[in-house]
Amino acid sequence: MKNSSHLKALSERLEGPFFFYDIDALDLHLKAIKSLLHPDIKVWYACKANPLSAILTTLQKNGFGVDVASTGELSQAKSAGLYGNELIATGPAKSKKYLENLLDNSISTIVLESHQQLIDLNTICAERNTKQNVLLRVQLAYDTDRKSVLGGSEITAFGLGVEDWKKISLSEYANVKVLGLHCFQWGNILDLNQLSEIWEFTIGSCVSLARDMGIQMKVLDLGGGLGIDYKGDRSLPFSQVHELLMSYKVKFALREIWLELGRFSVGEFGTYATKIVDKKSVRGKDILVTDGGINHIARPALVNEAFPAVTFLASPASKTFAVHGPLCTSLDFLGDHELPSEISPGEWIFFEKCGAYGFTESMPYFLCHDLPAEVILRNGDLEVVRNIAPSSTWNS
Ligand SMILES: Cc1ncc(COP(=O)(O)O)c(C=O)c1O
Repeated sequence: MKNSSHLKALSERLEGPFFFYDIDALDLHLKAIKSLLHPDIKVWYACKANPLSAILTTLQKNGFGVDVASTGELSQAKSAGLYGNELIATGPAKSKKYLENLLDNSISTIVLESHQQLIDLNTICAERNTKQNVLLRVQLAYDTDRKSVLGGSEITAFGLGVEDWKKISLSEYANVKVLGLHCFQWGNILDLNQLSEIWEFTIGSCVSLARDMGIQMKVLDLGGGLGIDYKGDRSLPFSQVHELLMSYKVKFALREIWLELGRFSVGEFGTYATKIVDKKSVRGKDILVTDGGINHIARPALVNEAFPAVTFLASPASKTFAVHGPLCTSLDFLGDHELPSEISPGEWIFFEKCGAYGFTESMPYFLCHDLPAEVILRNGDLEVVRNIAPSSTWNS
């Protein structure tokens, strides 16, 4: 188990579920990505993956800007010290007030996802006598029935279709400067060939849309989507991803390519720890019940994929247990896991690769359980950045 001595120390010290983030390992990972980057490939961090300030500052330190998608993410990024050129904004819900807030913070680029956003931003910029850099988010019709949390080939609220954009005359919006396009519909891709297939179609479609709309494309933002392996130890080497991007840069004569990486940046560096509170066999099935579940990590219920589970027990995994959290809904299921048969109440179970789409994607208030602690390992030291919060601290 990774970080076992730190996890042991924390499990002896903390009374309830906690997240542990290895900031030192994250730092090394980001340095490795940074060392490969061509100046025309820019990587942003999609902070929806994990907006913890220690994570944001580690990304900032390594030269990553941050992609925010809400007022709350903007203020979290600001309080971590990010500003102006270090920020871009994506997201389908941008009210006038939020757009004004983005401008007040000198945001470098706003990704426009609708005609309304374009009209509102242009009006605000005209009132302020400024011009704002933007990308237009495009939603493509991919010819596949593969599914994706980002919508894949379904029609979603992200951006506008090719034909929808073409109906808009950009010359009517003199206070926005269109730097290029943005297109992102596929998440957690681990296979380079699949990535290449998606990017080939995406880039080709964006290049022809830019030509049809008269956009001189300085930037093409391909969003996130680089995967991590929740079922094993496969990895997507960033060097190969980078090589692929460089080949597309040449093939399609692109100037700058941007990525907004969430999962791939931070996913591997978090662990969620919870204790077993019950063990039983129900109609022939072995079940463990834990004191934290989808109230702290909802992803298994949202995408039907478990995080890998490990324990401190020395004996080999020999039995399949269905692991359920404490909520009164059958949705609170953390997966079927191979674990040592003697595992019992009181034992800790650790879910690895919870650095992205962990706590902030969960449903923490249901049933009034405690909120988990969050602990970081930075410069070799453990630091509790948030204590366990019982419901009495947040319930009115
Ligand atoms: C606009 C945008 N960019 C980037 C990301 C990050 O995606 P990933 O975690 O797959 O890298 C997301 C995730 O939802 C997103 O919505």
